[in-house]
Amino acid sequence: MIDPSRFLSDLHNLRRFGAHDDGVIRTAYSRPDISARDWLAGQMASAGLNPQFDAMGNLFGLADGPSLLLGSHTDSQPTGGWLDGALGVIAALEVARAAQEVGGPKISVVSFQDEEGRFGVTTGSAVWSGLLPLTEADTLVDHEGVTLAQARAVLGDRVSGDVGPDLFTGFIELHIEQGPTLDNNDEQIGVVTDIVGIRDRVVTLTGQQNHAGTTPMALRRDAFQGLSAFNTRLNERLRNVVVPQSVWTIGHVDLTPNASSIVPGQVRFSIQWRDGDAERLRRMQEVIEATLNEVATETGLEVAMAPLLGLEPVEMDHALRARLEAGAETIAPGRWRRMPSGALHDATNVARLMPVAMLFVPSIGGVSHAFSENTNEVDLVAGLHVLAHAAGVEQ
Ligand code: GLV
Ligand code: MN
Ligand code: MN
Repeated sequence: MIDPSRFLSDLHNLRRFGAHDDGVIRTAYSRPDISARDWLAGQMASAGLNPQFDAMGNLFGLADGPSLLLGSHTDSQPTGGWLDGALGVIAALEVARAAQEVGGPKISVVSFQDEEGRFGVTTGSAVWSGLLPLTEADTLVDHEGVTLAQARAVLGDRVSGDVGPDLFTGFIELHIEQGPTLDNNDEQIGVVTDIVGIRDRVVTLTGQQNHAGTTPMALRRDAFQGLSAFNTRLNERLRNVVVPQSVWTIGHVDLTPNASSIVPGQVRFSIQWRDGDAERLRRMQEVIEATLNEVATETGLEVAMAPLLGLEPVEMDHALRARLEAGAETIAPGRWRRMPSGALHDATNVARLMPVAMLFVPSIGGVSHAFSENTNEVDLVAGLHVLAHAAGVEQ
């Protein structure tokens, strides 16, 4: 039987790995991430599942024979919340354990690696799904210049080999919403209709490092001024192209040399944009590139754009979605809705291989990717029951 208190206690046990403030610091391949995966492998084994690490560090807990796959990720953002990813993995563990106890149905569990993109965008599931070849992934670098190949060496002899997707009949991911919709409307469950697409790239603007006291303003080639002008102009230029659901973010900025008395010679920054429509993503890209080139020319800077990373928008499988909708109507009658996901998920990559569906529970205040991320226990448990219902473990 599904045991909500065992589920909540496991969720708090996982929270201890990399605990910081009310959240976690458990980035992919860090010591807390690997310790959490070792702990999870032990829990999987105790639940009667066969734990297997693949070369990326994706951790599967396999049922015996063809099974429905449930899960999410246990790595976190550099400063992350305790539920992002963790909820879907621990709920999967509880559903699989309950299924083992009563002799079926067959449920396997996964914790994908680097969903939070230390090295790219949902890197572990991108490799597992075949979207990104491992040899190519290995050359990706994090913001400190560490390659994925170097980082994943920490897995050592944990790696047991490939886990083929043909073992699984479908995939369901439970996740926190990470936005305000359910909380604002006092609803308990969101059944996801589709997941937005994303584009993400690193840009470098290079000017001339110089003395901040002696270099006349008119002669400067100041990389920060270039970034600042780009950001302001981009917000104006995108206005004609975007809809209210479109988002764009400059989230990581590395200014060189980053000193008060030096005109900065170089800035390296991320620019990321998301939308549910692939054509709009393309139009946003055109505006971004044109604005960058324009500002670079005007300010005497050189612009270099790293390869574009991204995922396409995807629709959820209708049959699996219907099972979640039936579960939502049973557990939270009149308090659920269908909704798109503005956050990315491993489900996007897994959808290349098998039918996929997702469900959300509310995020208090719509806050996520922050230490203060939280969800009421009653909502966490409601999500667990809807998942168990859709998996055929509860009626
Ligand atoms: C994944 O957490 C994302 O960036 O949406
Ligand atoms: Mn997540
Ligand atoms: Mn996240």
